[in-house]
Formats: sequence, structure tokens, C-alpha cells
Amino acid sequence: MTESLDDIVAQAERAFAQSATAPDLENAKARFLGKQGAITERMKALATVDVEVKKQQGAVINAAKQAIEAALAARRSALAEAELNERLAAQRLDVTLPGRVAHRGGLHPVTQTWMRIEEIFASIGFDVADGPEIETDWYSFTALNNPENHPARSMQDTFYVDARDSDGRLLCLRPHTSPMQVRYAQQHRGAIRVICPGKTYRVDSDATHSPMFHQFEGLWMEEGISLADLKSVFTQFLVQYFETDRLNVRFRPSYFPFTEPSAEVDVMFAEGALAGRWLEVAGSGQVHPQVVRNFGLDPEKTVGFAFGSGIERLAMLRHGVSDLRLFYENDLRFFFFFFR
Ligand code: DAH
Repeated sequence: MTESLDDIVAQAERAFAQSATAPDLENAKARFLGKQGAITERMKALATVDVEVKKQQGAVINAAKQAIEAALAARRSALAEAELNERLAAQRLDVTLPGRVAHRGGLHPVTQTWMRIEEIFASIGFDVADGPEIETDWYSFTALNNPENHPARSMQDTFYVDARDSDGRLLCLRPHTSPMQVRYAQQHRGAIRVICPGKTYRVDSDATHSPMFHQFEGLWMEEGISLADLKSVFTQFLVQYFETDRLNVRFRPSYFPFTEPSAEVDVMFAEGALAGRWLEVAGSGQVHPQVVRNFGLDPEKTVGFAFGSGIERLAMLRHGVSDLRLFYENDLRFFFFFFR
């Protein structure tokens, strides 16, 4: 035993100071205080010495041991504190950051408007039907009294599909929901009260037109009805849709190939941001005799009224939206407005 106890204590203090982690420190501890550690060995050596010597040397060794234990404890807490500080720095919590809100999803404003329209017409006794978005040009135009090469076809400039159906009919993306008048009337006999909402397509794109948009078509065929009934039903729809009866409705003469007479439906609000101006909301009219024939019915015996309106258009008027493109840009700031 050449080293002095002071040396051993100094060595231990150095070894502890050099231990950078808790496991390193425990290994260093073993070298001094472990079963074969330097201090333990000194204690063991006392077994053979005289009682007086043992007493005296034992006290000295104990003092060295306590010094080492004190150094160990100090280093342990220094390492623990360093580790905690490191962890705190890594997981720093900035309580001033905005919280993470769990946003609830919601239906798209067009869908909300669509559902609202269906609900109102269902309450007035109208059925709801849907039909193909890829439509034949026969249903889209010809059946609606819009013959090939007729200039009125350009009122709805559509996308043609480079394919034909099994009857050899040209296919296109329907430019309006009006083909559903024909499809529905061909399949239903007796009185018909139906609306057909859905997607429509046109070669058109600006602040108030989108290549894809939504319409709903209405068809009402029933014995004894007149344009006055159409006006009353459509007015009732508008009152419910806009939740105000402080509005006026007018049927302004117009032209559509599939109705005769035809009218544009305008609404004017008595109050609100849009008050005092006539706003176009739909096309309508008495179903043209040729179209009634295409339904497979006799125009001498059956009278029908039809209307068609844009879903985005109604949503824009109701919510004061001035740019149609907002519906399709997926800007959450816009959508939050509808998700109340
Ligand atoms: N299909 C017309 C359009 O897209 C709207 C329309 C007008 C539908 C008159 C009708 C109607 O049923 O009678 O502009």
C-alpha cells in the first residue's frame, strides 16, 4: 500500500469530476467504494492488525471514505441537475404560443346550400332525383329542343367526351341539370314534382363562373297548374331559403329553347346589403311542347313547368360572397365563416 489515503481521496475526486454521466460516475464509485475498491481493501487489511492500531487507522480510513462519499453525492446531484436542465431546455414549453385547437369538420358550403334546397322543396312536396354527370348530348340538348347546330347550344358551352354511349350518342359533361327533366319524366307517370340537384360543367372561368358548378332543376307537371302556381311555389322557396318575406319576386320574359313562354326569375330584397336591386336567381318557364313530346307525353293533354337555378349563386346571395372561386380554393378562413 503505497498510496496515501489523501492520494486516494484526490484520485476519487478527480475521477468523479471526470464522470460525465451517471453510469460513468457509478463505475468510478466502484473503484473506490466497491467490494474491491481502494477504500474497501484498506478496511479489509485492518483485520489482521492490533486492536489499538485498528481503532486509530479505522478512524482515518473512515474519514477518507466519508470524504469520498461526500464528493460522490455532490457529483451525483450536479449530474442530475445538469440532466434536468438539458431536458428542460429540450422540452421547453412556451405557454404564450397559441393553443392547438381541435377543429371540428363541417360540410362544404355548397353541400350545406344543396341540403337546404332539398329540405325546402321536400317540404313543399317535391321528390329529389339525381342523374349522370356524363350525359349524352341528346339529353343535354336535342331532347330539350336545342337541335344540333342551333346557335342556342352555345348558351351552354360544354366539355365533350371523346366517346359515345352504346346507342352511338355523343357524350358530354352536362352543362346544366335540365337533362334530368327528360330522364325523370320518361320514367314517371302521373303528376310529377321533382328537383334534381347536381354538378354541372361549362367552359367558363371567372369570378362568377367556374368550369364545375352546381345547379338544381325543377319540374312540376300536374293537371290544372299554371304559371301562377310556379310563381307561388318558387316565391315560397325563396322566402324559406333566404329566411325573409321582405322580398319581391318577378318573372321577367326571357328565352330558353326548352320552355315557352320562358322567364328569368329575379328577386329583390327590401333590406340588407343587397336591398333594392333585382337579382337574377333562376330560369323558368312552361315546358315546350316538343320537350313534352320527348318526355313521351302529349303536349295537348299535359302541361308542365320547369325551373333551373345555380346552387353557388344562391349561396353567394345568402352569405354575401362576391367571388365564386372562394368555394373551391379551400381557404380555411373562408370556410370558418360557414362552420358556426
Ligand atoms: N338550364 C338553364 C341554364 O342552365 C336553366 C333553366 C332555365 C332551367 C329555364 C329550366 C328552365 O328548367 O325552364 O341556364
